[in-house]
Amino acid sequence: CVSADDFAKAEHLGREYVLKIAGTVRERGAEAVNPNMATGEIEVLAKSVEVLNTSVTPPFSIEDGIETDETTRMKWRYLDIRRPEMYQALHLRHKVAQAMRGALNERGFLEVETPILANSTPEGARDYIVPSRPNPGRFYALPQSPQQFKQMLMVGGIERYYQIARCFRDEDLRADRQPEFTQIDMEMSFVTEDDVMAMNEGLVKRVFREVLGVDVETPFRRMPYSEAMARYGSDKPDTRFGLELQDVTDVLRESGFAVFKSAVEAGGSVRLINAKGLAGALTRKEIDKLVDVAKTYGAKGLAYTRLTADGVTSSFEKFLSEEEKAALHKAAGAETGDVLLVVADAKNSTVFAALGALRLAVANKCGLIDPDKFNFLWVTDFPFFEYSEEEGRWMAMHHPFTMPRAEDLDKVESDPGSVRALAYDMVLNGCELGGGSIRINDPAVQDRMLKALGFSEERARESFGFLMDAYQYGAPPHGGMAFGFDRMVMLMLKRDSIRDVIAFPKVQNAGEPMSGCPETVEEKQLRELSIAYAPIETEE
Ligand code: AMO
Ligand code: AMP
Repeated sequence: CVSADDFAKAEHLGREYVLKIAGTVRERGAEAVNPNMATGEIEVLAKSVEVLNTSVTPPFSIEDGIETDETTRMKWRYLDIRRPEMYQALHLRHKVAQAMRGALNERGFLEVETPILANSTPEGARDYIVPSRPNPGRFYALPQSPQQFKQMLMVGGIERYYQIARCFRDEDLRADRQPEFTQIDMEMSFVTEDDVMAMNEGLVKRVFREVLGVDVETPFRRMPYSEAMARYGSDKPDTRFGLELQDVTDVLRESGFAVFKSAVEAGGSVRLINAKGLAGALTRKEIDKLVDVAKTYGAKGLAYTRLTADGVTSSFEKFLSEEEKAALHKAAGAETGDVLLVVADAKNSTVFAALGALRLAVANKCGLIDPDKFNFLWVTDFPFFEYSEEEGRWMAMHHPFTMPRAEDLDKVESDPGSVRALAYDMVLNGCELGGGSIRINDPAVQDRMLKALGFSEERARESFGFLMDAYQYGAPPHGGMAFGFDRMVMLMLKRDSIRDVIAFPKVQNAGEPMSGCPETVEEKQLRELSIAYAPIETEE
């Protein structure tokens, strides 16, 4: 916008003012053309300028790539949203929602809303609870997902349901986790695992093409859970780079290194990653940092061997015989320039967790990840049960309504750990983008699984009575899945956190700095709800 004569008018204008300008659009002079701007070839010659509203000085400068701390940005989120980056995120989010709705509508899905005031759904997190005024001492739970309602819609003959559904889980915040988040949730009747997976591949393909112009190759690779753990130490492997895990238990079973030997004797394993050709980047100092990573994930230590032109340095090979050393190097394919990172533990889950995390740390440190790749993957054949040390019992890894594999049913009581579920996760670049399963539709099987999960008949009845009842009225076979909508948008935009693609996200302590929630309420409100607040005294 240019003013030909009257610069005095512009003198009183400031940043973030809202103006009404009338004038004439004209071509810029050749020397003033800006090819980097969409409107770089034209300008407006202002005839009148009216200030519609003024602005005080903003707390941070409103531009892309700012380094202002997040709390400040969140406190003035409406200013943050003025930044083009934020607009782009919300715009893309909108486009993904539209594309998803379009694709699901075309495939005959019905969008149905399910209640927010509901009963607890066991997805494994803590519930947010809401007191009921007319029912003193009784509470709703905000849904962790619409799981049970969508299953009831199937029993109701809806056949194909979807919903862009808000879910609530009182769990710790992370970059890819919010206490309040959105799922693209769906359920279908008369389907197999293959049907659900193929349908959702089609959805992803279409949305990526429509919104990003990216051609995603389908069908996606499929990998059983056991293979994902053995090769990547993770049930959501990032397959954009190698650094696969190797099992060297047999080589080191009888080794003179007590740490390895005792881990193996206790039923665990010794596994390693060969960081091929990375000895230059992985100096002693860097390896020390990796030791901390391994320990964060529960490992008792991290043993290493560095093979350089100057010789071999190792934290543990002094305990091995020459034969064992040679066998280890052979098994690991170790050559000059490599670094072997070894973890042993009595628990395989610890070995996997530590090496899975080390894999990512090394790849990030050494720049092995191509940020332009979209690597999709299905992880299948999840275990039905997962033993919780904390609870001292078997828990459902996905949820208790997941159908176990028919051929594993006879092991439900005798060997729960080996029962596989008809469950699948869609993984994108090492992030769990979505997950689902085929559901139990036979009350006898549901009964049996709940028993194995430690539910007494009474508690099962109390919690899921309606479900068991519904299954007695000709429940069709059904299954489905849910995408993490926020995660999908984050990955499409290559942002680091889902907070960047949510208009008003929560921050630490699950608060929202702009509005200041959560807040105290008036005594009167509590009284109406028959609630008394009694802070629990702690050591602090
Ligand atoms: P699940 O618990 O795997 O399955 O959730 C589905 C997807 O939702 C996303 N997600 C989250 N995103 C942000 N913040 C969170 N706290 C959060 N928790 C989960 C993930 C995840 O893959 N009812 C089943 C689905 C089904 O079986 O159909 C369910 O909720 O991307
Ligand atoms: P130490 O004899 O305790 O000095 O250990 C020798 C090396 O083995 C060190 O590099 C330790 O970090 C490593 N180490 C210790 N416990 C484990 C373990 N459970 N798995 C792998 N390495 C370990």
